[in-house]
Amino acid sequence: MYGNTSLTAEEAKIVNSTVEDPEKLAEFEARITRGEKIEPGDWMPDQYRKQLIRMIEQHAHSEIVGALPEGTWITRAPNFRRKLALIAKVQDEVGHGQLLYSAAETLGKTREQMLMDLLSGKSKYSNVFNYPANTWADIAVIGFLVDGAAIVNQVINSKGSYGPYCRALERICYEESFHLKQGHDNFVYLATGTKVQRDMLQEALNRWYRPLLHFFGPSDRDSQHSEKLMKWKVKLASNDDMRNQFLDQYVPKILELGLTLPDPELRRGDDGIWVFGDPDWDEFKRVISGDGPCNAERLEVRRYSELAHRWVREALMNPKEKYVTPLA
Ligand code: COA
Repeated sequence: MYGNTSLTAEEAKIVNSTVEDPEKLAEFEARITRGEKIEPGDWMPDQYRKQLIRMIEQHAHSEIVGALPEGTWITRAPNFRRKLALIAKVQDEVGHGQLLYSAAETLGKTREQMLMDLLSGKSKYSNVFNYPANTWADIAVIGFLVDGAAIVNQVINSKGSYGPYCRALERICYEESFHLKQGHDNFVYLATGTKVQRDMLQEALNRWYRPLLHFFGPSDRDSQHSEKLMKWKVKLASNDDMRNQFLDQYVPKILELGLTLPDPELRRGDDGIWVFGDPDWDEFKRVISGDGPCNAERLEVRRYSELAHRWVREALMNPKEKYVTPLA
């Protein structure tokens, strides 16, 4: 899955000792144009490696931080069936973090370093996980719409150029499609339920609308990395294109349930491009720079977990320890 190669930071430097050599760069770009996958031991421009580490690492952090708001509802799920499904989903999300950290490690950054950068605030993770899950309806919105948005992004990027990331994304998408079913079922149940349930869902939807627009990143005009990432087929669609695809797929599903979206300007233009009101990009910037409603709490929980479980990692990574398989 990961090409059976993981580079250390030192090895990565050696592989890239001829950084941006024009001939190597041309051959690399020709491979990408031919649709070949780039594997960990292959030559790659330093910028490609750095961009991939940044993006995959942020994605991995998003999975493990994203498990937190849903995790808080496991003990409060309305019935046993919903509880079982939520436990399985949260476990899957943490597993996705594991897959993605492994994919990022193939590029030469250690998992320890990635986790340290998350805790110090150096690395980002998705804006959407910095909002609270106040009611059970938030779990329906996360399961249906946040996971739906993630699938739009991940299905597109799974066709990209870096082998280990694409293979991890393919596997993640299989599981995400179950999450989406679970979210959709929960969402429709509340939308077609009692007045209290419908109001609760509408209230959650009103709060999630803007963060969901932000999920796909700034507009193409303001995106810093899209041009390079699209040239190298790490991203296969721009932020605006992905956002448009999401609105195309999900707005009709929301409206047909008799729910509304808190944006009087939202409409699909004749050219198929969605028009929406100002999504408050200042809020987006604040949230991704650490000043959202739950950033401090999310990182505090991760810090606690890091400290409380450090002994497990230290024991596992101690080269002097001999592991013995119990016979009985
Ligand atoms: N949440 C947090 N930060 C975001 C963001 C979001 N929803 N969207 C963009 N940003 C950040 C970018 O990381 C970048 O910051 P950085 O330079 O400090 O890393 C900055 O905003 C500018 O954005 P842009 O140039 O458009 O970044 P990008 O080309 O990497 O595109 C994504 C942003 C999210 C579309 C892209 O990184 C991606 O597809 N990531 C993989 C999927 C993923 O992480 N999903 C999240 C959870 S499932």
